[in-house]
Amino acid sequence: MSYPEGITDYLATLRDFIRWGASQFNQAGLFFGHGTSNAIDEAAGLALHALHLPHNLPSGYFNCVLTPDERLEVLGLLERRIAERKPAAYLTHEAWFCGLPFYVDERVLVPRSPIAELIEKQFSPWLSQPEEVGDILDLCTGSGCIAIACAVAFPDADVDAVDISTPALEVAQKNIDAHDVRDQVTAICSDLFARLAGKRYDLIVSNPPYVGSDEWRGLPPEYHAEPRLGLESGNTGLDCVRRILRQAHAHLNPDGLLIVEVGNSAEALEYAYPDVPFCWLEFERGGDGVFLLTADQLAEYRIHFA
Ligand SMILES: C[S@@+](CC[C@H](N)C(=O)[O-])C[C@H]1O[C@@H](n2cnc3c(N)ncnc32)[C@H](O)[C@@H]1O
Repeated sequence: MSYPEGITDYLATLRDFIRWGASQFNQAGLFFGHGTSNAIDEAAGLALHALHLPHNLPSGYFNCVLTPDERLEVLGLLERRIAERKPAAYLTHEAWFCGLPFYVDERVLVPRSPIAELIEKQFSPWLSQPEEVGDILDLCTGSGCIAIACAVAFPDADVDAVDISTPALEVAQKNIDAHDVRDQVTAICSDLFARLAGKRYDLIVSNPPYVGSDEWRGLPPEYHAEPRLGLESGNTGLDCVRRILRQAHAHLNPDGLLIVEVGNSAEALEYAYPDVPFCWLEFERGGDGVFLLTADQLAEYRIHFA
């Protein structure tokens, strides 16, 4: 441990430790964005985890004094966040998405897609009759967070959770089991649509890799702790997205929708397909770079994706 000797004599309450941790995080130049957006929230999440307390603990408890053992536990976790430069979720093995907890480790990306907000609203107003959604595909599922959250939001739907990475699918299956949605969600190992011949869906949702190679190399260390396969997709970041656009139409029902996150590769996508009317979705809780195309549009602009 490299924290100053005697520090636990100066820090007593949970609030003290969160404040001190946040200062240390900022001084160390940590990057936030894998579940929290700032040092205070990051330190609070880790401290609460170390103390086995819920992440929504009422703030009145923050004035409680920690025991000597608890102080060491909290300091140890705060210290690891600085020393290892991994997203906090890899230290706690827990990430929240759509109000649900997910097991995560270095085999999968830390869930953080703004698509969560769409799922919580059952894709309203884009889906007018959510009760009629029978089949959903989560392409590039990682931890399974989108697939499982869709299964919860659409209890009558079947959901296929596809990923090319066997290690990622092991994590997805662990989450499928933990959320008890085995009857609804099927984990499938496939290179995009390769093993989905003949299958059609009402909704295809995807958060594929979309970071260009140069951009990936310049990302903060926290991103390099995540699987490169989950982030990088060719020189422009569009390799996966181009293939999805080319193939999605063959896997959508007539009124189906394709929803894909491309983050800050949105500009590159617009540049690559200047004639395609991508509908860019808006989010109340922040985030952007998610487009929607209907099955009809995918058919109409098929020549552009060829
Ligand atoms: C950005 S992560 C998304 C994970 C998860 N859906 C989420 O939102 O947190 C992208 C995932 O796509 C997977 N992937 C990369 N290339 C793929 C391909 N060709 N076919 C299927 N999955 C792929 C990676 O293994 C990774 O798990």
